[in-house]
Amino acid sequence: MSEQKFTVLPKHVAVIMDGNGRWAKKRGLPRTDGHIEGAKTFRRIGEYAGNIGVRHITFYAFSTENWSRPEAEIKGIMHLFYDYLEEAFDRLDENREKGIRLRFLGDRSRIDRELAGMMDRIEAVTADCSKVNLNIALNYGGQQEILSAVRSIAADVQNGTLLPEDISLQSIENRLFTAGQPPVDLMIRPSGEQRISNFLLWQSAYAEFWYSDVLWPDFTERDFDEALAAFEKRNRRFGGI
Ligand code: FPP
Repeated sequence: MSEQKFTVLPKHVAVIMDGNGRWAKKRGLPRTDGHIEGAKTFRRIGEYAGNIGVRHITFYAFSTENWSRPEAEIKGIMHLFYDYLEEAFDRLDENREKGIRLRFLGDRSRIDRELAGMMDRIEAVTADCSKVNLNIALNYGGQQEILSAVRSIAADVQNGTLLPEDISLQSIENRLFTAGQPPVDLMIRPSGEQRISNFLLWQSAYAEFWYSDVLWPDFTERDFDEALAAFEKRNRRFGGI
């Protein structure tokens, strides 16, 4: 597999990792087992995307709405984040050589302190890596992200550092978790659902959407290729003709 396989690659791919629960149910397993398999798929696809030259990829791992799930399921998912971060520290040299910059998008105030600390540290020690930007959306909500940008702008207007007439699209973009990263070109959602579910609302203004019936734990590199091949064929007009 090589980058030459595609003539046009999306600069930023967003992935909604959906269908873990149904994958487990089909097998008579607890939902958490679906998330365990989903986390393996996340590792595989993240690695593959980087290898073929995708520079920015964002995975939706936990939404602001996911707190309404049963406690045992939430604990199970949080446990997977711990495992992943522990592994990321264990493999730090290897990941730094590959140029992987890891970032978490979302509100950290409700995240367990130890986990939030690990998130801060992994971001700090990979901040100078620039080949692949791997983002994990954790306690993330797109509307909440825009609301927080608006509040920050209002505060700057109130303290006199920003004039209302100087508020621009850039003023908002600079205050998003993705500040400095390109907008989403391609949004992938498996498992047969066709919704955006509060994910990267601002950043996906001109994104191409690609859906598949495959449940996330079964999602393969071939499925990812299919999405990229479909993207290559799309005629993107950005509101023009
Ligand atoms: C949605 O599927 C999935 C989630 C809410 C959790 C996704 C989390 C992971 C895949 C673990 C990621 C781990 C790391 C290390 C980033 P669902 O449970 O809503 O599926 P369903 O619609 O079939 O019930």
